[in-house]
Amino acid sequence: MKILVIGSGGREHALCWAFRKSGKTTEIFCADGNAGIAQIARCVNIKPSEIHKLADFAEENKIDLTFVGGETSLALGVADEFEKRNLKIVGASGKAARLESSKAFAKDFMRRHHIPTAKHEVANSIAEAAQILKKGTFGGENSPVVVKADGLAAGKGVVVAENRKQAEQAISELEQLAGKNAAEKIVLEECLTGREVSLILFTDGKNFVLMPPVRDHKRLGENDRGANTGGMGTISDDRLLSENQIKTIVEEIIKPTLEAAQSEGFPFCGILFLGLMITDAGTKLLEYNVRFGDPETQVILTRLKTDLVDICEAVCSENLSNIKIEWEPGNTACVVLASKGYPQKPQTGDVIFGLDKAENQKHVQIFHAGTATDANGDFITAGGRVLGITATAENLDKALQKAYETVEKISFDGMQFRRDIGN
Ligand code: AMP
Ligand code: GLY
Repeated sequence: MKILVIGSGGREHALCWAFRKSGKTTEIFCADGNAGIAQIARCVNIKPSEIHKLADFAEENKIDLTFVGGETSLALGVADEFEKRNLKIVGASGKAARLESSKAFAKDFMRRHHIPTAKHEVANSIAEAAQILKKGTFGGENSPVVVKADGLAAGKGVVVAENRKQAEQAISELEQLAGKNAAEKIVLEECLTGREVSLILFTDGKNFVLMPPVRDHKRLGENDRGANTGGMGTISDDRLLSENQIKTIVEEIIKPTLEAAQSEGFPFCGILFLGLMITDAGTKLLEYNVRFGDPETQVILTRLKTDLVDICEAVCSENLSNIKIEWEPGNTACVVLASKGYPQKPQTGDVIFGLDKAENQKHVQIFHAGTATDANGDFITAGGRVLGITATAENLDKALQKAYETVEKISFDGMQFRRDIGN
C-alpha cells in the first residue's frame, strides 16, 4: 500500500516509522516531512494547509491511505476534500474538527451534553471579557482564572493567570500572543487543579479503542516552571489512570461525546485526544484535540504491537469493533531536545552532533521534529522542538534512564531539555 502522512514534526516521524513497520506498506510519502522522515519516506513539498494540492497528489500518485498528523489541515476540511474524491483518509471532518479549532464551540458542546469540565464563559471582545472577570464568576481578585483564545494558536493561546490582575493583562495581550483571528472570541475558565493526563483513542464514529494514557510535560522548565510549550517530554504509563477512572471517563466523557457528535450531524471518525485533569472532584475534560498529540504519539506508537495499517482500515470501514489492538507491556519515555530560544524565538541552523552514536540502539528511537540537512549533509536544527529521544523498557525508571543516556550523546548549540521528565 502507498501511504501519505501529512505533517512535519516528531509526531509525523513516529507515524511514518509505525507505517514502515507494517508488512502492507510499499511506499510512504510525507508532506512535507523533515530530515529524519526523509530517511524512511519520500518527502513531498506540499504544506499541510494546501488541502487541494494534497488531494491532487494523492489522486495522481494513487495513494491508498492518508493519515493526517496535525490540526491545521483538519480544520481546513482536508478529510472532506479527500472523501469527496473517494480517497481513503484517517482524520476528523472539518465540522468535527471544530472541537479543537474553536474552544468556545467545544466548551458549549461540553455544556450542552453535560460533559464534566471547568466552568466557562465566552466573551466577544476584550471589554466584555474584562466585565465577566469583574462579575466574579471565577472568584475574587485573588482567584486564578484561565484565559484562552478561541481559535487555533499553535499552543500559544492559553494563559493560566494566578489572579484577576494577571488575567486582565492576559486578555489585553491575547491578540498579540495568539493572533488576531484566534483571539476574536475569548474563553474564560475556572482554574482546575490536579494531575493532567492525555488519553487518546481511535474511533470509527461509533466504536472506539483507547490508547495507553500519557503524561505530557508542557512547561519549558523543570518543576513545571516557565513558558508553556507544545510539550517537552512524555511518558506512557498504564498506572496514570485506574480501571475505575477509565470506566468513568468512558461513561461520562467518551460515550456522550461520540453520541452527541453523531446526533449533532458530525460523526467523529479518526483520532480523538482528551486533555484531562484528575481533580479531587473527579475527572474533568480540559480540551479536545482532533488528532494525535506531539510528543504523545512518540511514546504511544513505540508500544503499538498491532499493524497501524490494519487499524486505519478498520477506522475507515467503521469496523473498529472487529480488531484487537495490542500494546507492548512496560513503559516508554520521550525527552524532547529543543533549540535555543524555544518557544519564543527558536534559533535554527545549528549542527547537531552525536546522532550517529545515539542511533541504532535497541529499544531507542530518535524521532526528528525541526531538523534539516546542510550543504555538507550534516543534520542541523530547523525549528523549535528538534528531536524526541524515545526509549521503551520493562519499567519507567529504565525507560527514562535509557532515554537520558541517549540524550547525553547528542548536542547542539543552546540545546534545551528537561531533566525531570516522568517525575
Ligand atoms: P489547552 O490548550 O486547552 O490544552 O491548555 C493548555 C494547558 O493549559 C493545559 O494543558 C493545562 O495545563 C492548562 N489549562 C487549560 N485549561 C485549564 C483549566 N481550566 N484549569 C487549569 N489549567 C488549565
Ligand atoms: N502535546 C500536546 C498536544 O499535542 O496538543
